[in-house]
Amino acid sequence: MDEGCGSCVTVGIMGRCCFGVVSIAVLCFAALVSYGAEGYPAEDLVVELPGQPKVGFKQFAGYIDVDVKNGRSLFYYFVEAEKNPEKKPLALWLNGGPGCSSVGGGAFTELGPFFPTGDGRALRRNSMSWNRASNILFVESPAGVGWSYSETASDYTTGDAKTANDMYIFLLKWYEKFPEFKSRELFLTGESYAGHYIPQLAEVLLDHNARSTGFKFNIKGVAIGNPLLRLNRDIPATYEFFWSHGMISDEIGLKIMNECQFDDYTFANPHNVTDSCNEALTQANIIVGSFIDNYDVILDICYPSIVEQELRLRKLATKISVGVDVCMSYERSYYFNLPEVQKALHANRTNLPYAWSMCTGGLEYSDTDANMDMLPILKKIIKNHIPVWVFSGDEDSVVPLLGSRTLVRELAHDLNLKITVPYGAWFHRSQVGGWVTEYGNLLTFATVRGAAHMVPYSQPSRALHLFSSFVRGRRLPNSTRIPTED
Ligand SMILES: *[C@@H]1O[C@H](CO)[C@@H](O)[C@H](O)[C@H]1NC(C)=O
Ligand SMILES: *[C@@H]1O[C@H](CO)[C@@H](O)[C@H](O)[C@H]1NC(C)=O
Ligand SMILES: *[C@@H]1O[C@H](CO)[C@@H](O)[C@H](O)[C@H]1NC(C)=O
Repeated sequence: MDEGCGSCVTVGIMGRCCFGVVSIAVLCFAALVSYGAEGYPAEDLVVELPGQPKVGFKQFAGYIDVDVKNGRSLFYYFVEAEKNPEKKPLALWLNGGPGCSSVGGGAFTELGPFFPTGDGRALRRNSMSWNRASNILFVESPAGVGWSYSETASDYTTGDAKTANDMYIFLLKWYEKFPEFKSRELFLTGESYAGHYIPQLAEVLLDHNARSTGFKFNIKGVAIGNPLLRLNRDIPATYEFFWSHGMISDEIGLKIMNECQFDDYTFANPHNVTDSCNEALTQANIIVGSFIDNYDVILDICYPSIVEQELRLRKLATKISVGVDVCMSYERSYYFNLPEVQKALHANRTNLPYAWSMCTGGLEYSDTDANMDMLPILKKIIKNHIPVWVFSGDEDSVVPLLGSRTLVRELAHDLNLKITVPYGAWFHRSQVGGWVTEYGNLLTFATVRGAAHMVPYSQPSRALHLFSSFVRGRRLPNSTRIPTED
């Protein structure tokens, strides 16, 4: 995602955006001692965030050094499950980009327990937080994103393999801080460019498991939302989506369908397509324009200049469109740049010489890694009998369902998996939550009706239902009669 990214210049995947926050002392002391006994790191306990409503679960935040020599360190934010955290699984969530923040995006505008208030100075509860179903770990990855950093500048030249390996080291060291979770069921989740991060991380963890005679990662599932998986399907899907939503002309739509050969398309500009195809793609993007949210083409947009002035003047920036505050990312950025918030989160311990932003411009991220096909890796995960869910907000034009649906079917075909749930509606609160199909009892594709690229952001209740079904190993309900959980 992000940053109210109305202005996706290229095909939107990156552009400027991407795929893409004295009795008390006695109590605290008692609390710290008990965390210590439970094997929690007292120094990472977030006692209270500024303007935070009282909650009954614990939050932790801090750094894990993944490379001491280079001074490379990843920032995490961890929330316990709301009830019975000791009985609930652990889910890792990663945002994409590459270069976007999981704490800013996932935790504070999508699926975490708090959202910013309209004035950007406090927090409100997200009643549909995914920590109702699981303990959730958000990590700023790779170094250079959000509050993760390196003291060695060359570390900012990076790519998929280094990112996956750092996350592997991160998890091993995070388990040292939180030993109780070492054997806990682990679910790997994320969205957008995490369609690269999550499968690649899963592969590294599976390779570890294959080698290790001792500790093994207890991976129980992989779920990726609007994921970038393979350009030759994901890129044309964007133009088909524009076309089917009346965002481009029939002439341009047909020209793209007829003249573009997406099998050789490359992520970096120039895209290795013919001149006439390139011209048609450019035309299409001009017609779509920059006053639409490519990540949810139904929502209105938030105007940065207006919202920034409102926040300075302590006014509410909130702008509700189809039930969603489309200015939320600005409120969150304001909140995250408050020094007292950074202090409470144990963030920015090195006083980084730049402000916090959702997506960093400071990475030299490999632009050929985006060309990689993720299907062979998903295949390997499924062959290890790990369930894979691909879910898709159906209002997203950046990585639209049209590409993901095809890729999941092709994956099932390659693996010889038969349809185990025929394509049909799934239900939430007596309404259609989206459509779903399942292959070989292991591979699920589900749309989320009325959802953005950031699925939980615009459809919090449906998203929570999907996530809790996933972590409980249940199918989505195919009738209105089945009582809903959340
Ligand atoms: C560009 O496309 C041509 C064929 O259209 C193909 O042979 C070549 O490998 C492609 N180059 C890259 C870098 O993908
Ligand atoms: C880190 O802290 C410094 C002040 O000490 C501040 O100027 C900077 O904006 C902060 N950066 C981030 C990424 O939070
Ligand atoms: C709904 O799911 C149940 C259990 O998997 C199955 O028996 C039933 O046939 C399904 N109904 C429809 C309408 O697909």
